[in-house]
Amino acid sequence: MFKIVSKRKLNSTVTMMEIYAPLVAKKAQAGQFIILRVNDDGERIPLTIAGFDREAGTVKIIFQIVGATTALLNIKNAGEYIQDFVGPLGCATRIDGISKVCIVGGGVGCAIALPLAQKLHEAGAEVHSIIGFRNKDLIILEDEFKRCSDKLTVMTDDGSYGGKGFVTAPLEEAINSGENYDEVFAIGPLIMMKSVVAVTKQKKVPTTVSMNPIMIDGTGMCGGCRLTVGGNIKFACVDGPDFNGFDVDFDEAIVRSAMYKEFEARACKNCNLLKSEVK
Ligand SMILES: Cc1cc2nc3c(=O)[nH]c(=O)nc-3n(C[C@H](O)[C@H](O)[C@H](O)COP(=O)(O)OP(=O)(O)OC[C@H]3O[C@@H](n4cnc5c(N)ncnc54)[C@H](O)[C@@H]3O)c2cc1C
Ligand code: FES
Repeated sequence: MFKIVSKRKLNSTVTMMEIYAPLVAKKAQAGQFIILRVNDDGERIPLTIAGFDREAGTVKIIFQIVGATTALLNIKNAGEYIQDFVGPLGCATRIDGISKVCIVGGGVGCAIALPLAQKLHEAGAEVHSIIGFRNKDLIILEDEFKRCSDKLTVMTDDGSYGGKGFVTAPLEEAINSGENYDEVFAIGPLIMMKSVVAVTKQKKVPTTVSMNPIMIDGTGMCGGCRLTVGGNIKFACVDGPDFNGFDVDFDEAIVRSAMYKEFEARACKNCNLLKSEVK
């Protein structure tokens, strides 16, 4: 069992928790993830390692309440326990040779982007961050991004805070105005990453995306997280989650991500917690 050391609500549907998991904390790197089960009959869900403290033995996770399992996790409080917390899984994000970078985060994807921005900042890179949300109420981690970014742009779809529109607009503007990024990292909804790649591919700016397909075992055995990258089959849990954005078949990934919609809708319908937690 793994103890929840702290819990903080970041917005109406996003929660941060610190879990006491010293063995995971000891080896965790930005870009990796864990798989947890809330109860012993619960489903396995992957969540990115949003931070870690090796001395305290804690690992930070930030999750959006989107369905039955995340709703169940969200009713747990500091001092309570979750059943399993397995990791670190997947490959750490590679940052060698990067001296100027643009990190593009969308929604809860910003939770995944933040440790990367911090790692690059600590390594001495010039970090420009562009973070986007549907509206002002959904903004998370702005102060944390400010602390590790040389330049931060906040966008909202409806213009209720920061710039109005999608993250791709300031990215394109920056590239057009001569910002020479060694790399762009895009982390967020599939459609957002696809749009970022459409901009950067045209401008020939190397782009890494963090893929989040349905995962089951997280060890490369079930095939659930299969993606096509550069015409080859890859498993996001062991080959990724980071991939060269120019090579990812986003259209296939978008279709595959909707495969279990019917089951998930049924689980949501039967989940009393969701009726009160999520609109
Ligand atoms: C490598 C990786 C890292 C992730 N990191 C984060 C994170 O840091 N924060 C966060 O909020 N979310 C993250 N996710 C997504 C998270 O796993 C899903 O939101 C969660 O599984 C939803 O479960 P649910 O039962 O609450 O919702 P459901 O109603 O079951 O599903 C809602 C949506 O979540 C996704 N999903 C469901 N089950 C899985 C699964 N087993 N694997 C992957 N996606 C699934 C699907 O897109 C689905 O439509 C990550 C996914 C992956 C693959
Ligand atoms: S989750 Fe099973 S192969 Fe990746």
